[in-house]
Amino acid sequence: MQPDVVIAVPKGRVLEQLVPRLQAAGFDTSALTRRGRQLIRDDEAGGLRYLLLKPDDVPTWVEYGAADLGVVGRDVLLERQYDLFAPVDLGIGVCRMMVCGPKDFPFTADMSRTLRVASKFPNIARKHFLGRGQPVEVILVNGSVELAPLTGLADVIVDIVETGETLRQNGLVPLEPICDISSVVVANRVGVKLKRHAIGPVLAALRASA
Ligand code: PRP
Repeated sequence: MQPDVVIAVPKGRVLEQLVPRLQAAGFDTSALTRRGRQLIRDDEAGGLRYLLLKPDDVPTWVEYGAADLGVVGRDVLLERQYDLFAPVDLGIGVCRMMVCGPKDFPFTADMSRTLRVASKFPNIARKHFLGRGQPVEVILVNGSVELAPLTGLADVIVDIVETGETLRQNGLVPLEPICDISSVVVANRVGVKLKRHAIGPVLAALRASA
């Protein structure tokens, strides 16, 4: 049976918060919480199909129409440009994008010096420092970013801070906030119109339980 609505969801940390959020909106999440490595999870009674994806890939599935809706962090949407509609903020995955580094690091003291910044979010980092006229060399890393100032790879990092525990345990501190992040529902712009009878009630339930 063809599902009414296909939803791309991120595997990992955000999925743990998404499950209770979906339950609060009245959805049966047993397909999602079932153990196993199946990447397609059907809730046949609810007419929903979930696709389990790497968080960064969720917008791609929705933009190309292979999923009707997706759940993605605003960090991913800010880092890359997607032609998507973001109708609901889920209020989960709440964290903050920040400049972080060693305590008292004078990163704003000399605006003529090129600051070395390591980040998983090179576009967000570049835009932030460009906005304040600070020359930067941004070094792309894909994880364990906190290591960069500790090992001389970079002066500071631009990264997500949730609990602050990773910073604390690695002797770094937040130096400057960039923006607040949370997970939102994204929709394909054409699909949301063509399938509005199926997609509308899903969005309405998520909005009503916010
Ligand atoms: C993210 C982020 C920080 C950490 C922040 O990394 O890049 O390292 O979480 O969370 P905290 O403030 O609660 O400690 P992630 O766990 O995704 O791992 P990664 O380094 O492999 O990207």
